[in-house]
Amino acid sequence: MKGIILSGGSGTRLYPLTKVTSKQLLPVYNKPMIFYPLETLLKAGIKDILIIVSPEHSDDYIKLLGSGSEFGARFTYEIQDKPEGLAQAFIIGENFIGRDCVCMILGDNIFFAEGEPASGGEDPLTKAIKDFKTGGQVFAKEVPDPERFGVVKFDVNMKAVQIEEKPKQFLSNFAITGLYLYDNRVISVAKKVKPSARGELEITDLHNWYLKQGELKVDIVKGEWIDAGTFESLFKAGELARKKIT
Ligand code: DAU
Repeated sequence: MKGIILSGGSGTRLYPLTKVTSKQLLPVYNKPMIFYPLETLLKAGIKDILIIVSPEHSDDYIKLLGSGSEFGARFTYEIQDKPEGLAQAFIIGENFIGRDCVCMILGDNIFFAEGEPASGGEDPLTKAIKDFKTGGQVFAKEVPDPERFGVVKFDVNMKAVQIEEKPKQFLSNFAITGLYLYDNRVISVAKKVKPSARGELEITDLHNWYLKQGELKVDIVKGEWIDAGTFESLFKAGELARKKIT
């Protein structure tokens, strides 16, 4: 399985913190933000990782992360010229993905998996990534502010029935987190996605394609998950990281 960290975007919600740097390079307690999603991939044994960045900050990423050898991994870099949507990552990454499956994680998504570090055993998220074979798989988490996210509605048997990006009408409290597992078909599906009203290739369209085929698995994330893209959540991420270490 190949890994992608999507780490572009303009970070306008965190302005002026992001005036001279990329959001995903900001500190979260004692590490740059991108180290957290990177560690999520490495823990699952993914060593071949594409890092997609915006043109303004590509030098900084290469300076920070290098070839990947320091992490026992191999990093490839691609530029996303404009933030035209999450699903574009699979088009940019077509050659890199080749014929493999892919695990994409957003550079501002932090997973503090349940059971670590005290238990030492494999946490459920790591296991799910390692066990993935085919179709699509996403991870949902109950949140108080679902309107900020892609949202999934379940039926009484906890089977996913509807997925919408930032729904205006309440759909459910389950946000879809920024870690996605897809088989190789995702490249051709992404190429068919049309830009949404906000001009982006929406990742939700990819989920919905797999949902329609009856091939989307939606798991509930155990442990903590933070999209560190706002002042509040960035602060909370730092606090949580500190708590995990000390
Ligand atoms: O955090 C999970 C959520 O991430 C999901 O629930 C949503 O379904 C998904 O659309 C996404 O929503 P956001 O509103 O958080 O997306 P945002 O535009 O903030 O982009 C997420 C990250 O991806 C952010 O770190 C910037 C980066 N990005 C974004 C876009 C649109 C890129 O690198 N390139 C892009 O084109």
